[in-house]
Amino acid sequence: MLVNLFSVLQVKLNEYTCSVFQNNLKSGFFGERNELRATSVPVPFVGFSRKTIECKESRIGKQPVLVPSNVTITLEGQDLKVKGPLGELGLTYPREVLVERVESGILRIRKAVETRRANQMHGLFRTLTDNLVVGVSKGFEKKLQLVGVGYRAMVEGKELVLNLGFSHPVKMTIPEGLSVKVEENTRITVSGYDKSDIGQFAASIRRWRPPEPYKGKGIKYADEIVRRKEGKAGKKK
Ligand SMILES: *[C@@H]1O[C@H](CO)[C@@H](O)[C@H](O)[C@H]1NC(C)=O
Repeated sequence: MLVNLFSVLQVKLNEYTCSVFQNNLKSGFFGERNELRATSVPVPFVGFSRKTIECKESRIGKQPVLVPSNVTITLEGQDLKVKGPLGELGLTYPREVLVERVESGILRIRKAVETRRANQMHGLFRTLTDNLVVGVSKGFEKKLQLVGVGYRAMVEGKELVLNLGFSHPVKMTIPEGLSVKVEENTRITVSGYDKSDIGQFAASIRRWRPPEPYKGKGIKYADEIVRRKEGKAGKKK
């Protein structure tokens, strides 16, 4: 009788610790603010077992971020400010990750919890942190190429002017913090310290004439490979 009671107690105890454990995992994974997402939980995520706690370290996340001496770092809780010769940028980390200064020239991103989401955030925020540091010290650039007879680009003051075969030239205001250079009327280089601003502006240039798949005419990224389709005439017998 005593023995039975003890084992019942033991089972109850196990159930309790197990459910506490699962609750922690769930709130860690979805976050209090993301409770809506819990209604559309993908099936593989529902049945958390003890195994999921051993999430693999993100390979990228583990690598330290090296901060050169011309970059100043200010870290307050989850807010990072990065100031360098080219500009100043900031980043707020989600609570799944922690950022810490190991030495004066080294930042490390760690996971605050062991969840799948923290794993993803770990790698992502390590990359974003590195982009800030590289951005304010060396900068980034994105190159575009105009392909098409008569297509031309030029910079006029704070505007990028594009002749793309429309009845009027397209004029785009160059955003603050970015600079644009045009070579041989057809090669555009967008540069600056904020990688995402550069990417967005480059994408908005390209959007005026995305390369068409038959002759590759349009605006393409310099490193973009346009997949050519065979012309309709080629299909006729
Ligand atoms: C800042 O320091 C890095 C590393 O020493 C160097 O590569 C970079 O050119 C420097 N930036 C400027 C604008 O001097």
